[in-house]
Amino acid sequence: MKQIALTGIKPTGQPHIGNYLGMIKPALELAEDYQALYFIADYHALTTVKNKKELTDLTYQVAATWLALGLDPARVIFYRQSDIPEVFELSWVLACFTSKGLLNRAHAYKTLVDDNTEAGREEDKNINAGLYTYPVLMAADILLFGAHIVPVGFDQKQHLEITRDVALTFNNNYREVLVVPEVVIRKEVMTITGLDGRKMSKSYNNIIPLFAPSNQVRKQVMRIVTDSKRPEEPKVPDECNVFAIYRHFSDADAIKAKRQQYLDGGLAYGDMKNELYELLEATFSEQRERYNALMDNRAELEKVLQDGAEKARDIAVPILAKVRKAIGVTGAI
Ligand code: TRP
Repeated sequence: MKQIALTGIKPTGQPHIGNYLGMIKPALELAEDYQALYFIADYHALTTVKNKKELTDLTYQVAATWLALGLDPARVIFYRQSDIPEVFELSWVLACFTSKGLLNRAHAYKTLVDDNTEAGREEDKNINAGLYTYPVLMAADILLFGAHIVPVGFDQKQHLEITRDVALTFNNNYREVLVVPEVVIRKEVMTITGLDGRKMSKSYNNIIPLFAPSNQVRKQVMRIVTDSKRPEEPKVPDECNVFAIYRHFSDADAIKAKRQQYLDGGLAYGDMKNELYELLEATFSEQRERYNALMDNRAELEKVLQDGAEKARDIAVPILAKVRKAIGVTGAI
């Protein structure tokens, strides 16, 4: 039996090309060698997304995006976190094995506390307890399925350390019940440049959406920040935000030729942006059609997610039973 690779996708924003290059593409490649369990972490999103329609829409968008980009639900177990009630039972159990001090030090929580303190507010002002216990729910997502590896971006490293710590504490108290997972950090995530040269991220409002209508994609590409060199002037490819994105979608020969054009001068940024736009259109047009078809057929999306949840629960239920037995809450001695 193959080892399990598991990861969660938080539905908090419109999927963009940074998500594709940094997460979706490597995850789909990994699914060739592992039994992959990929899920939409909608209950994690609830810590911040509190609008019903928004949460529902974002969840379907994420599902349609992964399917359009090639996730094969016959091979990957693809599901929605909220369809797995066992996650939430395990979450409580794990909370009883999580040191509170560890949660106090979790980055996401600590950042908000620091912001409050700096602004002279009470330190927990506007911080909900869901955000505070977020890492426990994440540990449950992982440990419930006996995941061997968890591929994530660097920002999730600390969460994985907490997961491992909790699993070891639990195993120490009872016996080796839980699989202690390894973290696999995807380095590329940090290097995908947004419109303004910072990491591409919804929170910086510097994204290029994957499947938005063409005119919106075009508008975003045109917004990419460049310096003010005139067309005829030589330019530095490695300092150009347009080039930084272009290179992810081109082969080695094309990149080399383009690099030379920059150095030689004569390439206008406007033309380069047009070229990038055309390239993105060509790269994603087929997938966009698939995406739109799926978004128009939510019953089909629902069916995929329900089938996935059923398969996921087949793995989860026996593991939770083992945990309950180890603790002594089942009634069986
Ligand atoms: N916290 C992750 C993020 O913000 C999403 C996530 C939830 C996750 N549960 C997980 C990732 C379990 C890996 C494993 O992106």
